[in-house]
Amino acid sequence: MNSLKNRTLLKVIVLGDSGVGKTSLMNQYVYKRFNRQYKATIGADFVTKELHIEEKPVTLQIWDTAGQERFHSLGSAFYRGADCCVLVYDVNNLKSFETLNNWHMEFLKQANPFEPETFPFVLIGNKTDVDGGNTRVVSDKRAIEWCGSKGNIPYHETSAKEDINVDEAFLGVAHKALTNE
Ligand code: GTP
Ligand code: MG
Repeated sequence: MNSLKNRTLLKVIVLGDSGVGKTSLMNQYVYKRFNRQYKATIGADFVTKELHIEEKPVTLQIWDTAGQERFHSLGSAFYRGADCCVLVYDVNNLKSFETLNNWHMEFLKQANPFEPETFPFVLIGNKTDVDGGNTRVVSDKRAIEWCGSKGNIPYHETSAKEDINVDEAFLGVAHKALTNE
């Protein structure tokens, strides 16, 4: 966390399997647009969003990362100084849920935060719109249980495509990141 002229800069890292919708969530949140076509993220890039939390001006610096294995090479310098880690899975894809343990562990290993037990994470279950929920394989109950097992991580469900709950989820992220001050 950095303060520049009273504006708080919060560094947020978004992780999760390839194709779960990390880039789509950020594009919907920051630019209000959605692209059906999949274009893999290579390496990492950030977008910023300015908002107010309890009248406090905050800049969210949201780092989008590559889910594809062959592009994993960010290194620990990249994760250091993060104020929050957002884990994303696809509610229609069991493997993307099961891999959350690895992403969680890998983040803590790389970022090496001062207090790993209390480091702010947020979980997002994305693509709730697909086939009206008929292809869903991970229940919200199961997701919430997982969050509980990791020290009560806040959980949000979204559709980046239909812009459902995206603003709320990132607002939750900003609140959580602020706790890392
Ligand atoms: P990597 O960059 O490879 O790590 O993938 P990613 O997690 O950034 O996924 P991305 O945002 O590129 O989305 C993958 C595909 O899923 C794209 O074709 C998106 O259009 C689609 N998609 C993303 N979010 C949603 C959603 O909420 N609903 C539906 N139906 N499709 C989505
Ligand atoms: Mg991407």
